[in-house]
Amino acid sequence: MYERQETAMKKVITYGSFDLFHEGHYRLLKRAKELGDYLIVGVTTEQYDRLRGKLNVEEPLLTRVENIKKTGLADEIIIEDHPGQKEEDIVKYGIDIFTVGSDWTGAFDYLEGKCQVVYLERTKDISSTMLREKLYPIIRLGIVGTGRIAKRFVAETKFVSGIESKSVYNPHRESAAAFAEKNGLSAYYEEYEKFLDEIDAVYVASPHEFHYDYTRAALLCGKHVLCEKPLTFSKRQAQELYGIAKERKLVLMEALKTAYCPGFEKLCQVVESGVIGEVCDVEACFTRLTAAGSRERTDVKYGGGFTEFGSHTMLPILRFMGTDYKDVQFQSILDERGVDLYTKANFVYEKGMATSKSGVGVKSEGQLVVAGTKGYVLAPSPWWLTKYFEVRYEDPAKIDRYEVPFYGDGLRYEVKDFAVQINKGEPDNGKFGAKESIALARVMERFMGLRDGADGIQG
Ligand code: CTP
Repeated sequence: MYERQETAMKKVITYGSFDLFHEGHYRLLKRAKELGDYLIVGVTTEQYDRLRGKLNVEEPLLTRVENIKKTGLADEIIIEDHPGQKEEDIVKYGIDIFTVGSDWTGAFDYLEGKCQVVYLERTKDISSTMLREKLYPIIRLGIVGTGRIAKRFVAETKFVSGIESKSVYNPHRESAAAFAEKNGLSAYYEEYEKFLDEIDAVYVASPHEFHYDYTRAALLCGKHVLCEKPLTFSKRQAQELYGIAKERKLVLMEALKTAYCPGFEKLCQVVESGVIGEVCDVEACFTRLTAAGSRERTDVKYGGGFTEFGSHTMLPILRFMGTDYKDVQFQSILDERGVDLYTKANFVYEKGMATSKSGVGVKSEGQLVVAGTKGYVLAPSPWWLTKYFEVRYEDPAKIDRYEVPFYGDGLRYEVKDFAVQINKGEPDNGKFGAKESIALARVMERFMGLRDGADGIQG
């Protein structure tokens, strides 16, 4: 336990996002100030909030700092941007008392060796979350499909405020009813039009071949759409869908979750900063051995390694090498029915190359390498849930390491971006926009064409 020394000035510290500054915040700061003589307020950055899983902070950092300043209660305002900072600050600023609201009771007991910890009673009936909900009406979301991903998706939406999974659609009534019951949804439908009537936005997680039809019908009904990858298997269809969305000012997003997670965003920033020089080659691999009877192994037309995991591996390729490749060639190992167990897609660019490896029947190292003229990025498996990556150089002793938290199974990040785009009325301002999505559909189309035709794919 911390034993308080009698010092000239008693220093108090508190932390928070202080988004949409409200009465609860004011009362907390006032009482915090009264605990001592000098109050330091730590305000979280947007990035840190995202890392700790708080995804909906509305106001920019400077506005939140400004609002605290206006109260006149803080003697000093600091920025909190990383885990472990609280311990550092307590030592750095010679803190006597750490305080937060009672919603955190117990969570900071571990600081007791360093200073006194006080939990102040939280003010009832007010929170930033409540204010955000008033700012934007709750987005009512309907789920198309009742498979594994749909189940995980519903669980993840609970971490994002402002959007709620309400209902499910499946042409088979029993499946829809069972899914709604198991996942706590209030309604289920077997008729698509009726289902669309009651919601604002749709998450399409149907079998791949129906993505286009469900997405198109929803957009034509004025609904925003988040559609599982691959959005379509045709460039023309993808263009059409984005065209409808644009014309009707609707959000259409392809649910490629890696594109929205903080670790991959960080990786992009690092590559774009130029530390590895000009990017010349990208190698991305994603394989998962699936059971012989699984859909991935039995669906001759839409199953297989490339349709399943190729969207992931193409993300860094299209991102770092661009969408204007000169050529793409495929080599696949097919099973006796024609399902690709393993596919290598080799991209040729004006100034470089890229390789995607994906498989459901061959196992390989699931890593991502982005090679440049000054160094390379290495993201080890599973790079698509980007938690860790390194930047390496000619000098083997010099390695920059990046570690970024990744919460849950990552779907919450794409849900959050979807909600933000809807609320802000900024269609196609997401992390994986129409251009890359259409390029992805173009590659899928070529793969399917070659696989089903005579040339290109080796069995
Ligand atoms: N706080 C409080 N009473 C409230 C709301 C917040 O005492 N009604 C306190 C929190 O306990 C914390 C500080 O204010 O110590 C900053 O909280 P913050 O998380 O920024 O505010 P919330 O309104 O709780 O935000 P959210 O709804 O986004 O969780």
